[in-house]
Amino acid sequence: MIEIEASWGSSMHPVIRFMTGRDLEEIAEIEVAAQLSLWGIDGYEAELTNEYAIVRVVDAAQLHAHDLSKSGAFKPPYRIAAFAAARIVVDELHITNIAVRNEARRHGLGGLLVGDLMQCARRRGLRWAVLEVRESNGDANRLYARHGFEITGRRPGYYCNPAEDALIMARLI
Ligand SMILES: CC(C)(COP(=O)(O)OP(=O)(O)OC[C@H]1O[C@@H](n2cnc3c(N)ncnc32)[C@H](O)[C@@H]1OP(=O)(O)O)[C@@H](O)C(=O)NCCC(=O)NCCS
Repeated sequence: MIEIEASWGSSMHPVIRFMTGRDLEEIAEIEVAAQLSLWGIDGYEAELTNEYAIVRVVDAAQLHAHDLSKSGAFKPPYRIAAFAAARIVVDELHITNIAVRNEARRHGLGGLLVGDLMQCARRRGLRWAVLEVRESNGDANRLYARHGFEITGRRPGYYCNPAEDALIMARLI
């Protein structure tokens, strides 16, 4: 059980940092395991130099350092527990991907990443956060709804494999 402090006031949470080149392989692995549409290593590498991209990661070593239930001797078997990617479009933040390793889900990391992206967006003076999500993705729908996102539209047949509509969700930042 990961026990972390979820409410971290107005500062950034210490377990979350920006993606670096050393994270690319693990991010691509997490993306495959989470069955997201695939950007792959090249896709995320391009985000490193894109001034309109924000990719934040949950650093596993920091996570375990802040996890009171783990002894100091515990070494996490990976660098990254989760990640969130977004793009800035004028005054909007478009959340493109969020994924948490299977074994680390339902401990608040998804919520922590959404909150972190909102703080990044606020600091850059953005006004809206927008995203698309599969209608059948209950975990993600609940996550976003819990963080103030509301359904504002639908894109018929947006996804393939399997074919499905996307719900458009948005919130003020
Ligand atoms: C969607 C996703 C990112 C959520 O990540 P997560 O880390 O599990 O999210 P959270 O832990 O913040 O919230 C998940 C649930 O765990 C619960 N939870 C959080 N901390 C908890 C704790 N300490 N103990 C028990 N439950 C807890 C939350 O209340 C929430 O419950 P709910 O789904 O019934 O509302 C994750 O399921 C995932 O990676 N899915 C695959 C990729 C994906 O679909 N991404 C979205 C694409 S748009």
